[in-house]
Amino acid sequence: MNEMHNPYLPYPVRVDQVVTETEDEKLKTFKLVFLNPEDEERFDYVPGQFAELSIPGKGEIPIGIASSPTEKGFISFTVNEVGLVSGYLHMMREGYVMGVRGPLGNWYPWEEMEGRNVVIIGGGFAFTTLRSSIVYMLDPGNRGKFKEITVVYGARTPGMLLYKDELASWERREDIQMHITVDGTDDPGWKYNRGFVPAIAKEKVRSADDAIAIVCGPPVMIRYTQPVLEGLGFPPERIILSLEMRMKCGIGMCGRCNIGERYVCKDGPVFSLAQLKQLPPEY
Ligand SMILES: Cc1cc2nc3c(=O)[nH]c(=O)nc-3n(C[C@H](O)[C@H](O)[C@H](O)COP(=O)(O)OP(=O)(O)OC[C@H]3O[C@@H](n4cnc5c(N)ncnc54)[C@H](O)[C@@H]3O)c2cc1C
Ligand code: FES
Repeated sequence: MNEMHNPYLPYPVRVDQVVTETEDEKLKTFKLVFLNPEDEERFDYVPGQFAELSIPGKGEIPIGIASSPTEKGFISFTVNEVGLVSGYLHMMREGYVMGVRGPLGNWYPWEEMEGRNVVIIGGGFAFTTLRSSIVYMLDPGNRGKFKEITVVYGARTPGMLLYKDELASWERREDIQMHITVDGTDDPGWKYNRGFVPAIAKEKVRSADDAIAIVCGPPVMIRYTQPVLEGLGFPPERIILSLEMRMKCGIGMCGRCNIGERYVCKDGPVFSLAQLKQLPPEY
């Protein structure tokens, strides 16, 4: 981030496109374009980071960055409509102007992931920064840096999956092993897996050898995926989790998001299981 930029001041952005992702219309992806092109350069991010999306006069909320830095000219975020600010966000239409503050937080451990097998495990709407990571790794300039890429991604129903067109295109590729699953469906045309993410991970992830696992999803999914990965032989340093705590400032100043001595907004949101085992179990 530019040192001269006040970290509390959002960059102005224009809503370029709004895509409704899920059948319940609660999840929408917002493609945002910086009003000042130099702000795009200042917003120099890495997959795994988040930003504060702000609606003038209404408030701001932390949201994981769903686009990849290899995608130029825009940034995108997928937002679940759960309350006040996310509700205002869902009213945003193409052409509206709002603010983005960031990038904030740390990121997935890319230096350690390079040269290794990468296992991505995601559930529900927490797939956003995993989408960023997959697009980043599949970029022609980056794909050679990683060995096998295995993805297990699940949602409650087919209609609740995010990024359906991209999932289909990744399914067709040979350089990424996709294992999409739904908790259940009556659709006879459903051609992927059925079952909860931890069970599909147990069935499909072959080995922990030279591999690092990134896990992002609801707490119950994380709770049941952790023993599966440990059972496969992943040491806690190579199980990486992203946390979603309540936050306010996003820059380690207000004390809203601490777990023990750590601030999730600044020291995280990405932690290894080894690091989390050192902290009080408040996450
Ligand atoms: C690092 C990080 C990344 C995130 N990434 C995404 C993302 O990519 N997409 C997305 O849709 N959401 C994401 N979230 C969650 C998002 O920030 C909250 O849903 C949002 O702040 C809710 O604000 P609101 O004003 O709409 O809801 P409020 O009116 O404040 O609250 C409505 C309901 O949402 C619950 N809630 C509020 N904040 C959170 C929170 N941080 N975590 C869990 N529940 C919460 C409240 O308990 C309440 O039940 C992320 C959170 C963090 C910390
Ligand atoms: S949100 Fe303010 S310290 Fe983390």
